[in-house]
Amino acid sequence: MSFGIDFGTTNTAGFRCAGGLTEEIGDETRHPIPSVVAINKFTGEVEVGRNARKRISLEEEDGSWVVVRSLKRELTRNTQWNVGGRVYTAVDLTAELLRKIASRPIAWGGSRISKATLGVPVRMSPTARRRLKKAASMAGIEVSAVLKESTAACIKYRALLANLQHAAVFDWGGGTLDISVIRVEGTELTELWSDGRDLAGDDLDLVIARYILSRCREASDGVPEFDQLTKPQQLRLLYEAERAKQVLGNDPEHEVFIEVGGKGHAVTIRQTDIERELRPWVREAVEFLGGCIEQSRLAFDELDLVLLVGGSSQLPLLSRMLDADPRFQGRFEQPGIPEWDVAHGAAILDGAPDGAYVLSDPISLLLADGSEFPLVETGAQPMSSVKPLCLSLVDNNESANLIFRQGSTEKPLLYVAVPALGFDEEELRVEYQLTEEWTFRVEGRSASLGERSRTSNETEELQFRYVLPVIDG
Ligand SMILES: Nc1ncnc2c1ncn2[C@@H]1O[C@H](COP(=O)(O)OP(=O)(O)OP(=O)(O)O)[C@@H](O)[C@H]1O
Ligand SMILES: [Mg+2]
Repeated sequence: MSFGIDFGTTNTAGFRCAGGLTEEIGDETRHPIPSVVAINKFTGEVEVGRNARKRISLEEEDGSWVVVRSLKRELTRNTQWNVGGRVYTAVDLTAELLRKIASRPIAWGGSRISKATLGVPVRMSPTARRRLKKAASMAGIEVSAVLKESTAACIKYRALLANLQHAAVFDWGGGTLDISVIRVEGTELTELWSDGRDLAGDDLDLVIARYILSRCREASDGVPEFDQLTKPQQLRLLYEAERAKQVLGNDPEHEVFIEVGGKGHAVTIRQTDIERELRPWVREAVEFLGGCIEQSRLAFDELDLVLLVGGSSQLPLLSRMLDADPRFQGRFEQPGIPEWDVAHGAAILDGAPDGAYVLSDPISLLLADGSEFPLVETGAQPMSSVKPLCLSLVDNNESANLIFRQGSTEKPLLYVAVPALGFDEEELRVEYQLTEEWTFRVEGRSASLGERSRTSNETEELQFRYVLPVIDG
């Protein structure tokens, strides 16, 4: 039995694969659980998911609940809330959400999720990955592996790619845009490039919220700016903005009713207005995709297909822009309803044999003569302890600049500048590790300068290869 979990900014989903059968793990509505948590100021009660989300619209003025939306962004920022004299960290609240998803299979007679593979945004920092792992552990979930959300979705759709050579996955969610550019060779998928940005549904909601306020302001005086609203008012307006964004994908007009500045306002928003407001952001997302293809060193005509996944990819404006772009015209597809893609792909990887998930290329250190000294081979698994390395400086320099590369990509993987005393043959002690969060970490110090020269750096920007089982449905 294998499990995948997609802790999304907007929605959190689980997925189970067992003996050829698959099962979606969401809430009572059979959809993913909204990533929203509410804390009662008086009782300390914590609500998770749909009930918590309802409080945004129902109880904003009551004041007894603090509602946290887009929990994953808060985890990245390491936010804390002081509610009713108690401090709640983003890790605590994430643990509550993960606990809920882990216990859901019990509702239909299964056992709780105690081990799973988790999707993460491509650029989720090593520290944020550790926070997520801590939250999972607090929820009783052992993390078998983490993988990029866009690559997880690619794994789910690998049957669609069977006769193709190169594909890109454009996973546009609520908090991040994640892109993986993939080479397909039979059942093997290799990341040629992947990158992510904090430009997604939440940002579009904010643009629409500001637009709604500007329309209210045209009609009456005294309408405040978004930043001047109280937190509950902001949440409520973002909620309305998100609804407007979704409805206006189909309908030409939508009426929004909000209460700000002490009175109620009704404004009619047209699809054309919203598209004008969102156009620059959608364009930026498309340009980011273009940049990722360039970084992968594929020519655009070598790209067979762009898979559009994630809720924000349902924006009709995105499909129209891609269709009008010669680089992508006729080469993109929305393969399905995106709710379970990432969790499903993570569950497939969770059930793959050991060694199915390896580095796409080895990691090496660049030496002074331009050659590369191999450090981590492609088949390496995360290391439980650091590996030592002893180097000597050939230059008389006050800083030893260590440059690490993965494969032959133009952009180096990692730099570490270790202070040095500055004499020939000075000894440098370096330790490196492919960590359990699938990041690469280096720490170095000069033997002569000792502890005060200790410097470290870590990156999540690694590319991987996945050797997958033959399609099981
Ligand atoms: N029909 C639609 N049109 C436009 N946007 C939509 C539509 N349906 C959902 N969305 C948006 O998609 C986003 C949620 O997508 P998704 O569930 O893929 O995100 P997530 O996985 O929770 O977030 P992330 O992967 O960024 O952490 C929200 O911003 C939501 O408003
Ligand atoms: Mg997502």
